Amino acid sequence: MTDMDMAEHEAWFENYAQEQRALETGDAGPIDLKLRHTLEVLATARAITAESGPEPELERACHLAALYHDVARFEQYRRYRTFRDRESCNHGLMGVKILKRERRLEGEGPALRRRVLTAVGLHNRFQLPPALPGDAALVTHVVRDADKLDILRVMHENLSGPKPWHPTVVLGLPDDEALVSDTVLRAAREGRVASYSDLTSVNDLRVLLGSWLFDMHFPASRRQFAAAGHARRLIEGLPENAAYGAIRTELLARLAAVDTAPAPAATH
Ligand SMILES: [Fe+2]
Repeated sequence: MTDMDMAEHEAWFENYAQEQRALETGDAGPIDLKLRHTLEVLATARAITAESGPEPELERACHLAALYHDVARFEQYRRYRTFRDRESCNHGLMGVKILKRERRLEGEGPALRRRVLTAVGLHNRFQLPPALPGDAALVTHVVRDADKLDILRVMHENLSGPKPWHPTVVLGLPDDEALVSDTVLRAAREGRVASYSDLTSVNDLRVLLGSWLFDMHFPASRRQFAAAGHARRLIEGLPENAAYGAIRTELLARLAAVDTAPAPAATH
């Protein structure tokens, strides 16, 4: 199987997004953002697999999972007017339901179907279950890395714009220098990913986004993380004060240490 028949899936997705857009009676902006996000995540997933070179069937699972990971965002937004799962529904699990309802994977083999559904269902979890089989874990990691890389782009684009920032973008967090989460800072200092649930301010969010460097699973995604510049700009936006100065320096040093030279061309 080749990547060629991905075209049918991509055409379906585009059409589904446009249908959902047509049903939207209010602001369709968030729907357009999610369509663009999906295309970016798919492109990044392709760049990751082009370099890491899984076997073709597994590669196809990675690309399908990237294409479909946020398929639930359109219905989530239309129904609940938010992308915050805690206030609406788990959009990973809802995506699995939609893919079944729409019979998107019925023409695929059972192993591929299982891997794609697993990755869509788990892509938005803070932590993955430890017993995840290797192939499903690989597909899930490709999607999660690519997803995080595009979220960095969106965050940087928004936070480099004029204040006040849109509450949806900054997750409703206050932009208050006095609010600092020790838990978020400790995670970043120890080279761990910080958790959304510990955020108290926009500065904490900047640290959390920077800490995603520690959760990149492939050389290509790690390189893109550093080379794209979004993470660096977000971290540079931290105040150089007693609370954030040290972690700002530390995260910038970690980013600068990533080798961004392109990988040698694959030999196969
Ligand atoms: Fe998502």
